[in-house]
Amino acid sequence: MKPIEVKEDIYWVGGIDWDLRNFHGYSTNRGSTYNAYLIIDDKVTLIDTVKSYLCDEMMERISEIIDPAEIDYVVSNHVEMDHSGSLPEIMEVAKEATVITSPKGEKGLKSHYDADWNFKVIDSNESLDLGRRSLEFVLTPMVHWPDNMVSYLPEDKLLFSNDAFGQHYASSERFDDQTPYDIVMEEAKKYYANIVLPYSSQVQNVLGTVGDLDIEIIAPSHGIIWRSNIEEIIQKYKKWSANETEEEAIIIYDTMWESTAKIATSIQRAFEAKDINTKMRKLGVNHISDIMTDVMTAEYICVGSPTLNNNMLPTVASFLTYLKGLAPKDRTGLAFGSYGWGGQSVGQVADILEECDFELLDPIKEQYIPNDDNLDEITERVKEQIK
Ligand code: FEO
Repeated sequence: MKPIEVKEDIYWVGGIDWDLRNFHGYSTNRGSTYNAYLIIDDKVTLIDTVKSYLCDEMMERISEIIDPAEIDYVVSNHVEMDHSGSLPEIMEVAKEATVITSPKGEKGLKSHYDADWNFKVIDSNESLDLGRRSLEFVLTPMVHWPDNMVSYLPEDKLLFSNDAFGQHYASSERFDDQTPYDIVMEEAKKYYANIVLPYSSQVQNVLGTVGDLDIEIIAPSHGIIWRSNIEEIIQKYKKWSANETEEEAIIIYDTMWESTAKIATSIQRAFEAKDINTKMRKLGVNHISDIMTDVMTAEYICVGSPTLNNNMLPTVASFLTYLKGLAPKDRTGLAFGSYGWGGQSVGQVADILEECDFELLDPIKEQYIPNDDNLDEITERVKEQIK
């Protein structure tokens, strides 16, 4: 397992998780990487680690460069176990090493690992002398956990951004200019929608700080390293964190006997008549984390469910729970669905869309099987309400 040189004496020594298909509920169809970086200087410094089951792979890459026992500092930018999982093994080998982390990082690491390591707790704007270089730190709480921070090498104009700017994308290539641009951007968008979206206001704070730095390389903790499209990914983060949407509708539904599917199609016709791009996403066929990627930039969020046992379908409930947690802002919502007798589902969907603070169009509720006239009327009703 070879390390990859990022800049002179700075190496990627992470692990590639080719087979990962589920990251705490997020479908990772292209796998992932956990990026650790080794800086060779007077003080040998490791930036983050990898998931515990890829520790041997990381150790092998490090050992191609130095004996891991020579590591002086291990910077823990984030406690989550995809980045800290191999810390216990590293600290067992590099017995004299000091763990550099934020105040909440120290607390989190001690709690996760019952750790009795040498800690140096740093705060924003502190720096650490490595010899020919210095490492500066900026605390970035809630991007993605309370403990997060990023590390910056001013001499190399290199930002170790941890979760920010990451993508779940397994690849033997390490840089953005070696990989298909559209795929990497799509994975970066999916990552933002499913991991970072609830913390957009904190992202805006970080972008303000990062905007003051001179950056030639962004080295995140997942996926490829940005060295050619830095301005593009920063602009995307500005757009996503500012909740900028496209004039686009996404119609998310599940159906029992196709009546709710027919209503979904009538709604689609209304948006098409207004020249608004529309995406149909049937639950059970599409994964909720893929749907969220589309939701992130869509102005209209339409959600449909028939009524089953006095409730919405479990697939729809699951999606709405996920949507509410990820908290996209300032959208227009529409609840719809069919029913046989009770008809509770549409009101339940509308309630959750309202809890999301969406502005709601009038709900659509049809008993049993809507006929052609009913379906045409639905299209007209929706058309009248679209701006
Ligand atoms: Fe990639 Fe929040 O861990």
